[in-house]
Amino acid sequence: MAMQNYISFLLLVCAFGVLANSEFGTGSVAGGNLPRSCVESEKQALLLFKNSLVDDSSSLSSWVGDDCCAWEGIGCDNITNQVTQLEVRNVFLTSKKIHPSLLDLKYLTHLELSISSSQGIQIPEFFGSFKDLIYLNLSNSNFEGWVPQHLGNLSKLQYLDLQTNEDSYQELRMDSIQWLSKLSLLHHLDLSGVNLSSAIDWFSSINMLSKSISVLHLSGCALPSNIPRHLSFINLTSLVSLDLSANRFHASFPSWVLNNTNLEHLFLGSNYFHGLLPESIGSLSALSVLDLADNKFQGTIPLSIANLTSLSQLDLSVTRLSNPFPPNMGNLTELRYLGIAMMGLRGSLPETFCQLKKLEHLDAGGNRLTGQIPECIGNLSNLNDLSLTENSWEGFVSEYHLINLSRLLSFTISSDSNLISNISSEWVPPFQLQVVDMHSLKMGPKFPQWLLTQRNIQYLLLANASISDTIPVSWFSSLFSSLEYVDLGDNDIHGDQLSLISGASNVLTSVDLSNNRLSGKFPAFLCNLTALAYLELSNNNFTGELPRCLGNLTQLNYLVLMNNSLSGNIHFLGSLGSLTYLNLYNNKFSGKLPRTFQNFSQLIAIDLGKNNLSDVLPTWTAEQSQIKYLILRSNNFYGEIPTQLCQHKSLEVLNLADNQITGNIPSCFGNFSAMVRGLITYNFLNYSTRGAKEFEIVDETKGYEQDYTSTLKYLVSIDLSMNNISGEIPKELMDLHGLLNLNLAGNHLSGKIPNEIGKMENLIFLDLSRNELHGPIPHSLSYLNFLSQMNLSFNDLSGRIPSGYQLQTLDDPSIYAGNKQLCGPPILKPCAADTASHSVNDHNEADSDLDSDDEHMWIFAGLGPGFAVGFLGFCFTLHFSNISIHVSILANRILRRYR
Ligand SMILES: *[C@@H]1O[C@H](CO)[C@@H](O)[C@H](O)[C@H]1NC(C)=O
Ligand SMILES: *[C@@H]1O[C@H](CO)[C@@H](O)[C@H](O)[C@H]1NC(C)=O
Ligand SMILES: *[C@@H]1O[C@H](CO)[C@@H](O)[C@H](O)[C@H]1NC(C)=O
Ligand SMILES: *[C@@H]1O[C@H](CO)[C@@H](O)[C@H](O)[C@H]1NC(C)=O
Ligand SMILES: *[C@@H]1O[C@H](CO)[C@@H](O)[C@H](O)[C@H]1NC(C)=O
Ligand SMILES: *[C@@H]1O[C@H](CO)[C@@H](O)[C@H](O)[C@H]1NC(C)=O
Ligand SMILES: *[C@@H]1O[C@H](CO)[C@@H](O)[C@H](O)[C@H]1NC(C)=O
Ligand SMILES: *[C@@H]1O[C@H](CO)[C@@H](O)[C@H](O)[C@H]1NC(C)=O
Repeated sequence: MAMQNYISFLLLVCAFGVLANSEFGTGSVAGGNLPRSCVESEKQALLLFKNSLVDDSSSLSSWVGDDCCAWEGIGCDNITNQVTQLEVRNVFLTSKKIHPSLLDLKYLTHLELSISSSQGIQIPEFFGSFKDLIYLNLSNSNFEGWVPQHLGNLSKLQYLDLQTNEDSYQELRMDSIQWLSKLSLLHHLDLSGVNLSSAIDWFSSINMLSKSISVLHLSGCALPSNIPRHLSFINLTSLVSLDLSANRFHASFPSWVLNNTNLEHLFLGSNYFHGLLPESIGSLSALSVLDLADNKFQGTIPLSIANLTSLSQLDLSVTRLSNPFPPNMGNLTELRYLGIAMMGLRGSLPETFCQLKKLEHLDAGGNRLTGQIPECIGNLSNLNDLSLTENSWEGFVSEYHLINLSRLLSFTISSDSNLISNISSEWVPPFQLQVVDMHSLKMGPKFPQWLLTQRNIQYLLLANASISDTIPVSWFSSLFSSLEYVDLGDNDIHGDQLSLISGASNVLTSVDLSNNRLSGKFPAFLCNLTALAYLELSNNNFTGELPRCLGNLTQLNYLVLMNNSLSGNIHFLGSLGSLTYLNLYNNKFSGKLPRTFQNFSQLIAIDLGKNNLSDVLPTWTAEQSQIKYLILRSNNFYGEIPTQLCQHKSLEVLNLADNQITGNIPSCFGNFSAMVRGLITYNFLNYSTRGAKEFEIVDETKGYEQDYTSTLKYLVSIDLSMNNISGEIPKELMDLHGLLNLNLAGNHLSGKIPNEIGKMENLIFLDLSRNELHGPIPHSLSYLNFLSQMNLSFNDLSGRIPSGYQLQTLDDPSIYAGNKQLCGPPILKPCAADTASHSVNDHNEADSDLDSDDEHMWIFAGLGPGFAVGFLGFCFTLHFSNISIHVSILANRILRRYR
């Protein structure tokens, strides 16, 4: 974010400089000394144009009176009084068309429109008839459709800016840019965001542009993947600023760029550039911005980079370039921004960095840097953003690392090794931080004293920091006016002092105090945090009832109170209509569910398992239901499974186990299309605030660890075990090809196992034990290639146990125990005619109850739809049967410019 601002800042300065030096300023905007009156026909044209606009921001309020040359945004020739300049910003167009009255402004040299409409506007062809136009700027408008080639008639044009608004849904397109070569005086061309994917001739056309082209910005143009490396002849030699970022180039470094010895800004970020960086990059001695981030460049960092002594901004983040750094890096004395994050850097951070005295931003996060952090960093007194996070540092972080950083606003550091913070408790820092991320650092056992001097913290991440202390109540209360995000999870913070905290806040959006030893009543101050969207207090010792005022937090998206001893009613949660995720697993809540839950249209996951809730099963009729995880296991839900449940096409995990459910399994279960398709969209973020979380599923009890990453898209599970469900297993259930887990154990199901069971080709776990199923075991069961746990014990199944394929590996006889009429391997009883003896081998009947709580299957995954409360990190756990899913969504860090 910071960098983007900085880039925009630089560009602004650059554009401003260029404008100031250019010759089009014939008419001074509303600036003449002599009384003038503008040309009547031009005034009428402007008024017609004005009438076609909605001017909510009153930017055209000065467009009254006779002298249109005096109107804001209008400039006139100082001799003829003809309108030469038109600048209109922030207006809204009611139709798709720009009013053609503008055609009457025949002498325009300068035209800038920042205009929007609900539909998207065409660039009018008649713009091509402003024959004197020098400057055309249509950026930050929502123009759409094809850029008319008529603009190629603007033979005097020097500036063409069609940069599209990033948030615009509309898209401008060009299928060829050849006609741009007709603009022989062009020296500033910005087509950023214009879709050029069908302009296959783009590069040869660019090479034919005016030789004087100095600014060429083609960022995010969906340019085709190839770009020539070497050219026999290159026309582009006057470039001062080149931006090819955010395209799809799969190519090596375009070395023709190096012929532009005046180049000041080079942006190649966010492409697939690969290969080595040429050593000759050091000859671009005018370079002040070099952004190569988010590419696949490899090899070592060219030593010649240290020759680029004008550099103020260098970004090599998210590349595969490796250290060592050039020994004379310290020559880059103008450097203000240095991005070396996520490059896989190893070894130590050299002290030459400490010579970069002007450095304001240093991001070295997400590498494998080891050794001690050089103390001299504490003398980079211009730093306002220092990120050393997610490395393997050793030794200590002491006050010397921060000693003179009086401008520091953001400090992020963490380490997967044994980095210890031994900042002296007497030290008073010279800064007031806004962002503190020191997670996974050993900074306890006490809350560090120096931190308590910080009064402006917005983002506080001290998770897993070996803190064993009570909450510093007054400090915490005083932070309420600034704090937006706090994560103190995974420590040993204890006591019931939270109940002493008072104060209110309308900025705090996220609180995570999970995995501590906090006790006492649910902290009532939380009710005063009116903007709270994320609250996680899981794995603490909170007791008693929830305060009713919790129902006031209507912004809450995530409420996770799992694994406490909270009790009482939850009906007042019925007002939390923004909930996406609710987890009350393993508490003592009782009573009924709020009726409104089923209308919560944002709800994606709900886990109320292991409580004493007693109610009929909700029908969940929400029309736009997105619910994916519905987990009600181990409560006292009763009655039949409502068929309305089948309308929830998005359901992926349904766990109603261990309740008192009666009736049949509805045959409409075959309608759970997400399970049929096996199409579940997860976004995986493996770089996160709390460390790179690998995404894994581990079945702990069975003693094996298996990585199901590639099949997770099929993750779906139905667990109806331990109820009083009767009737047959509906055939339709077998249509759920995406199902991984089917657990119907411990019911009164009768009839046969459907022959179609072989269709559930992704099934890994199947438990039909302890029912009243009879008949043969379908042979098609042996087609289930992934089946790794099965239990059919204690039914009335009969006949020969099918063999072959995957069933060969399931050779534990206990999974067939208690079916007196089964025969053949793996059980010892031989089949049919061979013997008459009924030697039942019951000695193998181990209790294969798979419902033990210790059996966990962990899945670290992100949940699809973005949870857009800024830079949040969170994780949650869902439980179902012998599987519990730990879903972790950890959004990107603040101050990281990568999405
Ligand atoms: C009129 O414009 C010309 C050219 O831009 C400029 O040189 C001249 O000083 C201006 N005259 C007045 C009176 O502003
Ligand atoms: C075009 O206008 C926008 C918005 O006013 C401005 O940021 C940009 O620098 C202008 N482009 C040029 C080439 O001057
Ligand atoms: C302007 O360009 C268009 C398309 O390139 C062309 O058809 C038209 O004749 C040109 N108009 C003038 C006045 O040159
Ligand atoms: C260079 O530009 C000129 C005119 O601007 C053009 O005629 C020539 O073909 C261009 N060269 C190449 C290699 O594209
Ligand atoms: C680039 O510059 C070098 C050295 O000045 C020159 O030999 C080469 O021909 C130039 N390349 C192109 C493509 O113009
Ligand atoms: C922290 O540890 C470093 C390295 O051992 C030591 O030089 C420094 O004095 C320690 N600071 C404090 C406050 O203990
Ligand atoms: C906690 O920090 C240690 C290093 O101090 C690290 O090894 C561990 O993975 C961290 N745990 C979590 C849950 O982040
Ligand atoms: C819930 O608490 C129990 C007992 O403290 C613990 O063993 C278990 O790991 C916790 N579950 C989760 C998912 O954290």
